[in-house]
Order: sequence, then C-alpha cells, then structure tokens
Amino acid sequence: MLDTAPDPTAERLRLHQLLTGDARALFAADVRRGLSTQPKQLFPKYFYDELGSLLFDAICLLPEYYLTRAEHEILTRHAGEIIAAVGSAQLALLELGSGSATKTRHLIEAICKRQPQLLYRPIDISAAALETSARVLLQSYPSLRIEAYASDYDTALARLRAEAEHERVTEAESNLSNAATRNHTLALFLGSNIGNFDRAEAETFLRRLRAVLRTNDALLLGADLKKDPARLVAAYDDALGVTAAFNLNLLTRLNREFAADFKPRAFRHVALYNEVHGRIELYLESRRAQVVHLPALDLEIAFAAGERMHTENSYKYDLIELDELAARTDFARTQTWTDTARRFSSNLLIAV
Ligand code: AVJ
Repeated sequence: MLDTAPDPTAERLRLHQLLTGDARALFAADVRRGLSTQPKQLFPKYFYDELGSLLFDAICLLPEYYLTRAEHEILTRHAGEIIAAVGSAQLALLELGSGSATKTRHLIEAICKRQPQLLYRPIDISAAALETSARVLLQSYPSLRIEAYASDYDTALARLRAEAEHERVTEAESNLSNAATRNHTLALFLGSNIGNFDRAEAETFLRRLRAVLRTNDALLLGADLKKDPARLVAAYDDALGVTAAFNLNLLTRLNREFAADFKPRAFRHVALYNEVHGRIELYLESRRAQVVHLPALDLEIAFAAGERMHTENSYKYDLIELDELAARTDFARTQTWTDTARRFSSNLLIAV
C-alpha cells in the first residue's frame, strides 16, 4: 500500500505563485483607501477568498444568473468552429480568470482533437481554485500540460510579457523565427470578466494582453449583452440571496484578515442598473448609523444610515462597443457567437 504514491499528473503541472507578501500589503492599502474615501468602495477582486470563490460557483447555478449557462451553451455548440476560426497552426491556451475552468473544457477538447499536445496557461487570483481545477483537467486530458499563475492580471501579464520578450530575443539569435510554423496562442477572457473594468480600464487591459500576443494570435472574449434592465438586475439580486451572501462575504473577509468588527446583518445587498454607463452596480448599504473598527489597520470608520459602499461594476456591451474596443487595442472582431436567447456573446478577436 502506497499512501505516498506519486501523482502521475504532477510532472505536467507547474504552479507559479505570484501572489507574494506584497499582495497582502496591497489589499490593506486598498481597504484603507477605499474605506476612507467618499463614496466608500472596495474592489471586486477581493470577493474571491475561498468561500467567495465557492459562492461565485453557486451564483453560476442560479436560475436568474443566465451568463454562465448562456456561455456554456455557446461553447458546447461552437467550440470546434471557434478553434477552426483561429487558424490551422498548433495552439496554446492562455486564460485570464480561469476559476473552476469548467467552460474551458469544451475548448480544450476541441483543440486536443486537432493536435497531439496542448499547453494551457491559466491565471487566477485564487490559488485554491487554480490548483483544484488544474488537477481535475490533468486527470481528464493526458495530452495537457499546465503552467498556472496564481496572480492578479497585471502581475501575470507583466511576467508573460517578460517571457515573450525573452523568447523573441532567443528566436532572433537562433534565426528560428518563422511566422508560418510557430504556434499560435488563443487567449480566453470568459464569463464577462471584462465587465469588472470601466470602459477605459478595459482598453488598458486589452492593450496589455495584446502586448503578450503576436499578430494572428486570438482572443475569445465573453461579454454579457445589454438587455432589459429587469433581467439584468434579477441576475445580480437573486431570490435565494446567494449574490447577497457573495457581496456580504467581503465584510466577513475583512473581519478575518484585519480583525474588523463588521456585522454583516447590519448591511444590505443592493444591485441596480445604471443606464448611462450600461452597467450593473453592486453596493453594501448600511442599515443604520454605525462605527466599524479595523484594529489591524488602525482604522475606525463611520457609516451613515443608508450609506452605500460600492463593491462592483459589471459592464454590459453591444457589438458596436465591442468593435470599438477591439479597434482601439489592435484587435479586430472577426466573428461573434451568441446563445439562442441572444443574452451573451463570445467574440473572436484577432491580433492585427
Ligand atoms: C465574475 C465579474 C463576471 O459581473 O457577472 C456575479 C461577478 N458578481 N454576481 C459578473 C458577479 C455578482 C461576475 N463576473
């Protein structure tokens, strides 16, 4: 009996931990600044502690939260077509915000039908989600190799950019550069993750992503489409209160990590659609006047009754906005797939 039997998938996985001590210092600085400004705000990337990631997985199963199911439908039906549209070269996959990587499976399967080996590079802020999903994928797909990055997007993109520079130099030195035979990268930014960026940040982000890609590489961009505000609000204010729990969990996390004394029951989850900006806005609203202490940050914060702390934006797109975004970031939208109810879009952007 071998209770230390070597894991046969281990040699196909490398996990790069880019979340260092600095990440905690950054979290502390963001919380300090966010709670001290008017209006108060916290960044949505901090939703995803271990419980937050699980609550998000639960959100994806809610009847009102159509986004995941719609994108799943698109990828189930069209993965082969999407992969064919990227071109005939061998592909490597790069995914930003891979989470549980459930939807990615369709693309992995479509690629593995066409080539003997596949390198998958997922990036996620949650090291736990990354490790779990990587092990599951490696068990399912023997021809898969994974280089995983536990990281925020900016740090990971800076790292990949440095690696790409290094490759370019090596290729130039050895005269290997051959645009016709080299592998292509298909980058994935699924699930409407782009929705957390405002319009200017989305541009900055896509430019940074473009900088780690080469001409004719591609990006599959999942974007939630503008629609009836009532449908949108329902998706972010579900009847079971799971999204409320997801939002309020931020306070629980602050209690744990900064010894704060937030009473989650003293706050209310608010979701509304801002027509002017085309975005869902999430808030935590103080049910009464109260003072909260964060001793680890040496902070004392007063909330007025009804005061709202902003926790997330989720921007919605139409195809014209997606074309403009692509054009401004050296991509071209060549094809778009939607679910049958036309709620969600999967957009193929080619690096030009
Ligand atoms: C993970 C950013 C795509 O905006 O729909 C879901 C996060 N927040 N319900 C989204 C979220 C509340 C989600 N994204």
